[in-house]
Order: sequence, then C-alpha cells, then structure tokens
Amino acid sequence: MRRKRCCRLLLKLALLLASLWMLSILGSPKMGWNPSSSVRYGWLHYTDEDDNPEKVCNCSAILQGERDMLEQAKLLTITKDFRKRVNIPDEFYTSATKDCRKFKSSRKYITFPLSQEEEDFPLAYSMVVHHKVQNFERLLRAIYAPQNIYCVHVDKKASASVLSAITSIISCFPNIFLASRSESVVYASWSRVQADLNCMADLFNASATWKYFINLCGQDFPLKTNLEMVRALRSLNGANSLESEKMPKNKMWRVEKVHQIVDGHMKDVGKPKDPAPFNLSILSGNAYIVVTRAYVQSVLEDKRVQALIDWAADTYSPDEFLWATIQRIPGIPGSTWTNTKYDMSDINAIARLVKWEWHEGARASADAVYPECHGTHVRAICVYGAGDLQWMLEQHHLFANKFDTDLDSVAVYCLEKYLRQKALAALQ
Ligand SMILES: *[C@@H]1O[C@H](CO)[C@@H](O)[C@H](O)[C@H]1NC(C)=O
Ligand SMILES: *[C@@H]1O[C@H](CO)[C@@H](O)[C@H](O)[C@H]1NC(C)=O
Ligand SMILES: *[C@@H]1O[C@H](CO)[C@@H](O)[C@H](O)[C@H]1NC(C)=O
Repeated sequence: MRRKRCCRLLLKLALLLASLWMLSILGSPKMGWNPSSSVRYGWLHYTDEDDNPEKVCNCSAILQGERDMLEQAKLLTITKDFRKRVNIPDEFYTSATKDCRKFKSSRKYITFPLSQEEEDFPLAYSMVVHHKVQNFERLLRAIYAPQNIYCVHVDKKASASVLSAITSIISCFPNIFLASRSESVVYASWSRVQADLNCMADLFNASATWKYFINLCGQDFPLKTNLEMVRALRSLNGANSLESEKMPKNKMWRVEKVHQIVDGHMKDVGKPKDPAPFNLSILSGNAYIVVTRAYVQSVLEDKRVQALIDWAADTYSPDEFLWATIQRIPGIPGSTWTNTKYDMSDINAIARLVKWEWHEGARASADAVYPECHGTHVRAICVYGAGDLQWMLEQHHLFANKFDTDLDSVAVYCLEKYLRQKALAALQ
C-alpha cells in the first residue's frame, strides 16, 4: 500500500515536471513552438555561406588581437583582387532592392523585435550621408530594428546613383524615410547642423513613442547591440550623453567672428559677432549626440534655443558647440549645470568614439588618450583597421567613427559578425 502511494506521488511529480518542461519549451506565446530560439533564428547568423570576400579572415583571432591574423588581414585589404571584390557599385543596390523581401532576407535584416525590452524602448536615428553606399547599408543593417525609426538625409550634392541607391534601400522599410528637406552640406558651416535639424523635426513629427535620439553619419558603426544600447540609455535615467566642455581659448575665434560660405568654403569675413543671446556660455563639443526626446523638443521649441540657433548661423563649425551649449542651458531636459565640474569629455560621453591622431599614444604616456590607430588617418581622424577592434570593444561608446569599407572592410566585417552573434545569443 505504502509503496503504491509513494509510486503514485512520484508519478504525479514526474508528470508535473514534464508539463513544466513542456511549458518551458513552448516559451512565451510569441515564440510559438521552438525548442530554442537560437536554433529557430539560426538563419539570421552571418556565416561563410554568405560568401563575403572577408570570410578568409578569422574574426575570433582578430578580436583577440592576434598579430599573425591581423597582418594577414592587413595584407588582404591592400590586395587588388580583394579590393575589387569588396567594391559594390551603387547600381547593385538599386536593382537588388526591386524585390524587397529577397533583399531583406538575403541580407539577413532583423525584421521583428528581438525582445519586449527593446520593443518598449524605440530609438530615433538621424543618418547624414553623401557617398559610400556600402558603408551606409552595412551600418543600417547593423542598427536596424522594426520598432526604431530612421530619418536619412542625403546631401543635395550627392550623385544621382547614390541618391537612387539609398532611396531604393529605404523604400524596403516602413520605418525608414528620407528627410523632408535636404541641404547641400558645406564643411564647418551651418548646413551640417541644419541637416540634423531637418531629421529631428521629421522624427519628432513622425512618431511620439521613441525615447532617445542618436545622430550618425554614413561612416559610423555601432559597438553595441540594440539591446545593449537600450540598457545603456535606460540607465542614463533621462540624461543626455554628449561631449560638452569649456571652449578652449584657441577656438574662441569660431564664435567671435562672422563666417560665411565663400566659394564653397567657410571664410572669416572680418566682422566681429555680438555675444550669444541670453548671455549663454558657449561650450565645446562635437556633432554626434545621444539625447532624449524631450531635449529634441526643446531644440525645436525653446525660445532661448531658437535665439541661439539664429545667432549661430554665421559661426564656424556650429555643430561643434551648438548641442554642447544647449546641454548646459537651465531647464533643458537631461541637461547639466554650466559649472565646469559638470564638463563631459568625448571619452566620458557614450555618443561616439573617435581617435584623433594627436591624442594617440602608448598607455604609459601621460598625453595619450587612446592606443595608436591600426588603420589610416584621414584629416587627422583614424579610419579604423581590424587591429583597432579589440580595444574599441572594451569601451562604453555606442558608436565609433570612422569606418570605410574601401580601406578596411575586415574591421566592419568582424564587427558586424560579433554584434549579430551577440544579439542572437541574448535570445536564448
Ligand atoms: C580562429 O582563431 C581562434 C583564436 O585563435 C582559434 O581558436 C580558432 O581555432 C580559429 N579558427 C579557425 C577556423 O582557424
Ligand atoms: C507632421 O507634419 C505634417 C505635414 O507637415 C502635418 O500635417 C502634421 O500635422 C504633423 N504632425 C505632427 C504630429 O506634428
Ligand atoms: C553674463 O555672463 C557673464 C559671464 O558668465 C557674467 O559675468 C555677467 O554678469 C552676465 N551678464 C548678465 C547681464 O547676466
């Protein structure tokens, strides 16, 4: 008797465990019948079957900084045949996107939110592009999520083939659109800010649900997955994250002299400028920011910001002080006090990792801010090589600048593989 009851109890326990196990493998109703999401979504992994020219490189070895592999990768990137194979003409995108479904599946775009957490925290992107469509498309694929929203500003001066390629890509996605107005961007002029402002206004108008705004150019690339970005942004607790520091004395001329575009370049026209409106202190920063929706609303609506914008229109490189200055105006959402104790450097902000040539050096050097560039310098900025990845991935920045698939596509390739793998691993 006793033994029988015991057996029955054991049987009941076994049945309970079995049903619990069934429940666990059934998972959330959204997932349906899938013993493991990683198996179900296995087709989203980037594999050698994708047949990328870069596949001969061992990315694990590259991310671990193994010298032999890095040297091999460097040699590869300067091989004529490899360069030819990596190059993709603009026309390819225009024709490949005629069948959007095929384009999105062959390029393995993620077309469903990977988690509830991400779905509940949509991001808004402004992407300012003028050339290098392949960089743009690989960047877009790396950051694309259906719950986010993307505004793409294509320079008025961009070639017809670039505009056609980008327009075709965008037309495949309901949550990506072209800026309603496009500017002809002149280096260091107001037009660079205006391009982002156009997208800010469009994004603000297009959707009320997004939480943070991030602006990019075509040569940025993420260092984090969408989930990691959402978590980093949530932990900011409503603060903005951007460079905002005391303006160095040797840059003050930028805001003390009137500048205008002369023959396509910014020129000092020999007139002094009035001080900034509302006696605002001008701070120094850069063009790339991570800010809340409420900050964007202030940019579009606050009277002091409007006056600052009007005043800044004839300064040199307003993109490098406007956002930084707004970030310190009292009452702006997510801002900080003007006192220098609240200064934030580009290293401490999460918006962008950039290696300037003159700040590179050995760890032991008191002047060095980051290790030496393993790629190529273009206008004193490091265009990353595969050898830069190991150090970069240890940093907290959401994005890094600059990448160029024409110079080192292995760096982009290993980064995109790393991020995709991480995003899918989080599904388990
Ligand atoms: C790639 O490199 C890693 C790290 O050195 C190594 O463990 C692995 O075996 C390599 N894979 C191939 C296919 O060579
Ligand atoms: C967005 O812009 C359109 C066109 O200008 C306008 O009709 C609409 O009212 C705007 N929506 C919001 C929410 O501002
Ligand atoms: C303007 O700012 C300067 C420096 O921050 C300060 O010394 C001055 O008193 C301010 N002027 C007014 C009218 O608030």
